[in-house]
Amino acid sequence: MKRKPFLAGNWKMNLERKSALDLARALRDAVGNSSERDVAVFPPFVYLDEVVRALAGTSIKVGAQNLCDEKNGAFTGEISAEMLVDVGATTVLVGHSERRHLYGESDELCNRKLQRALAAGLNVILCVGEKLDERDAGRTEHVIGRQTTLGLKGVSAEQMSKLTIAYEPVWAIGTGRNATAEQAGSAHTYLRGVLAGLYDERVAQALRIQYGGSVKPDNIATLMAAPDVDGALVGGAALKAESFLGIVRFK
Ligand code: 13P
Repeated sequence: MKRKPFLAGNWKMNLERKSALDLARALRDAVGNSSERDVAVFPPFVYLDEVVRALAGTSIKVGAQNLCDEKNGAFTGEISAEMLVDVGATTVLVGHSERRHLYGESDELCNRKLQRALAAGLNVILCVGEKLDERDAGRTEHVIGRQTTLGLKGVSAEQMSKLTIAYEPVWAIGTGRNATAEQAGSAHTYLRGVLAGLYDERVAQALRIQYGGSVKPDNIATLMAAPDVDGALVGGAALKAESFLGIVRFK
């Protein structure tokens, strides 16, 4: 099955108002309304509103990097799914490796966040990925299979149309050491098999699996040629229009 490429930029805790808006406007001017590829950006919470407005009328989607697992109430410092919808975000990352490993987010918490996002009508990119010691110990499939299965607990086949999975091996994030096309392809094919087991072949084939971890304009084409790689979730190289556009326009 041919799946539409999905290229997304996770800005993490980078840029300030001016550089965030300059970047959004440069992407707006370059991508406009084109629809052969899905493009999304994930700015810090405080710039979501303005980035949504800067990209209004384009095909570029705007999402948040995180959300709270609770609906509302006394949760100082947290941001709810409804607030994200309110400012025009249409999607959200759940379980990014930095949330899992720097802030101790468990599979159960990721599942609650994912459920909360879906209930509010958001699309979700569920991020999974093994650490280097887990890869070295031959546990990659076990880890990403568990993160996927527990992360998607209670999600119906119908709701899966709102989901994207991002395979982001922790050792490849921000290190300049991307997974090879073979490593990415093998993890993605494994994940698609997990999805077929959890749902069915139709759901598994329709879902897009992005690769993330040191994606650059010069390695995107090779990674995209790997089996079951349907897009990329980009960190560092998404902070400059030129490099992100080099990824979006891969040949
Ligand atoms: P880098 O592209 O900087 O390795 O980051 C990947 C990532 O974590 C995207 O979510």
